[in-house]
Amino acid sequence: MKRLAYCFFLLIVFAINVAAQDSHSYSNPSAVRVRHVDLDWNVLFDQKILKGTTTLTIERNSQTDPLILDTRDLKIEKVETSVNGLNYTSATFNVGTSDKILGAPLTIPLPTGATRVRIQYSTSPGASGLQWLTPAQTAGKKDPFMFTQSQAIHARSWIPLQDTPAVRVTYNARVHTPRNLLAVMSAENDARTPRDGDYSFRMRQPIPSYLIALAVGDLSFRSLGARTGVYAEPQVIDRAARELSDTEKMVVATERLYGPYRWGSYDLLVLPPSFPFGGMENPRLTFATPTILAGDKSLVSLVAHELAHSWSGNLVTNATWRDFWLNEGFTVYLERRIQEAVYGRARADMEASLGLRELQEEMATLEDRDEILHVDLTGRDPDDGFTNVPYEKGALFLLHLEQTFGRAQFDRFLRGYFNHFSFQSITTEQFLAYLKQNLLDKSPAQTARVPIDEWINKPGLPASAPKPTSPAFSRVEEQAQRWLRNEISATQIPVAKWTTQERLHFLKFVQTALEPPGSAGGPADATATQLSQTERTRLMGELDHAFNLTSSGNSEIAFQWLMMSIENKYEPAYSRLEEFLLSVGRRKFIRPLYQELAKTPEGRERALAIYRRARPTYHPIAVTSIDQDLKWPSE
Ligand code: BES
Ligand code: ZN
Repeated sequence: MKRLAYCFFLLIVFAINVAAQDSHSYSNPSAVRVRHVDLDWNVLFDQKILKGTTTLTIERNSQTDPLILDTRDLKIEKVETSVNGLNYTSATFNVGTSDKILGAPLTIPLPTGATRVRIQYSTSPGASGLQWLTPAQTAGKKDPFMFTQSQAIHARSWIPLQDTPAVRVTYNARVHTPRNLLAVMSAENDARTPRDGDYSFRMRQPIPSYLIALAVGDLSFRSLGARTGVYAEPQVIDRAARELSDTEKMVVATERLYGPYRWGSYDLLVLPPSFPFGGMENPRLTFATPTILAGDKSLVSLVAHELAHSWSGNLVTNATWRDFWLNEGFTVYLERRIQEAVYGRARADMEASLGLRELQEEMATLEDRDEILHVDLTGRDPDDGFTNVPYEKGALFLLHLEQTFGRAQFDRFLRGYFNHFSFQSITTEQFLAYLKQNLLDKSPAQTARVPIDEWINKPGLPASAPKPTSPAFSRVEEQAQRWLRNEISATQIPVAKWTTQERLHFLKFVQTALEPPGSAGGPADATATQLSQTERTRLMGELDHAFNLTSSGNSEIAFQWLMMSIENKYEPAYSRLEEFLLSVGRRKFIRPLYQELAKTPEGRERALAIYRRARPTYHPIAVTSIDQDLKWPSE
């Protein structure tokens, strides 16, 4: 009997999936589809809420189906519908039970002929897609700050809408803020708008919900070129403008490769350090972590990446989160091509080689099912799919196609692809059909050399996968070997001449060599593995002094060094570690540091003591992950 009920349950789940396509949304776009959104909010810093209305313009395929929206922790005050967009009448609505991952469906029965639905609501202070910063968490220390992060399924925590990337909407917004603050959105921003606390926005191109974005704070603007610019707090704007001064060049290089930039202007917003990601490709306004401001443009591949999303992701969008690799794999591939065009082949090779290494290291820890590009995320949080697999394995797949069919032919294919599917959301199946028709079937001999099914549906990497290498890195390894064999001292290593990427590779190489034998990755030099603690401390100290690692202001280098410091119990770096964890909120950095600390009992104590203080300053997305890792008792 139980078995039968279970089978029946499975059948229903299956039926729902086939109909709705996107297992991470309650919405029913095939019956009722939202086409346009009008937003109007008051930004209430003292209560940490957005309060206002959302008006949805809908298109109906069915005159009987209700409108079903996604919500999470929203307080719905009133719902009205309208036939003509002028007169609204009050409507009934139902908020269903809330699921931990998906939130709650908001079901609104629609009267005949209704074309608009207006919802009056407010967000909750703990909304997963919002972060409210105290003045102490900003560079200026005087004013509060707030920003949104909607990808993957957090838009529903601040807007009731069809929160699936399969649905694209245009939007207008009006935002009321304290008079001295500026609001910016993923839309047309007027940098010269008077600061009066009343701001209007328009996004004319249809975009998926995860790209709707808002930030409010004491922001200033600096132009970087004809179509490019940067927003940041006044205290940061000079540094930001200097670091990002190649942005216009990047736009030009990308257009040359993949066709016109279709969004008008391209600006960046450099956020306070609690921003949980490196970057977020919000259209016309990339959100970025301040940890890319290294002073020497060494970390601007992140700009190349977020800019590339203006083609791969924002123009052609994954239809569901299991197709995420279509966004990120393509974008990493484009990112490396932009880097090559702007900074040369050597830089692109180094970055590709670092990427491969990260992929291999992470795959050593992943379950098979998470190594698949077309990953099944049903019943899971789409954030679980956020690994190097969609990024680096996806990019390697495209590199394999490039190398097999030739760059000229593959570039032509990609230009055609972005054109063909522009402003659409597509599945992996649609991509594969297009690939077959426009590339594979044209050259059967070459096609036989690419195991497409293995790339898309199997774990691991095909044996024939490309293995990006860098000649510069081979020279770095030679130096590292000589130092590890005691043939040279650390001060003799030509680190002053090395790029950040070479330094990172050096540190990675040494890190592996110092690992105990048999650990993931495996030691590069067996003689260096049986080290006493005194010897480890001496080696780390020698590097520290020669390279100035503990005091490095480069976030990637600092992160790599701090990981090694924990692994090798290098105590002189511990106060820097604490300072880093208390001042940076980028999840890619802080999560592994806490995880590494938590591997020993003393380290775990240290991690918990720091986390207790840092947790209130971290973004909800980072908190959710680290709470899980540290088994932090959630409220
Ligand atoms: N779109 C992603 C960020 C993202 C993905 C946020 C999934 C939430 C869910 C963005 O383009 C990205 O990939 N950012 C990277 C940096 C990039 C240089 C690899 C990041 O933040 O680490
Ligand atoms: Zn990305």
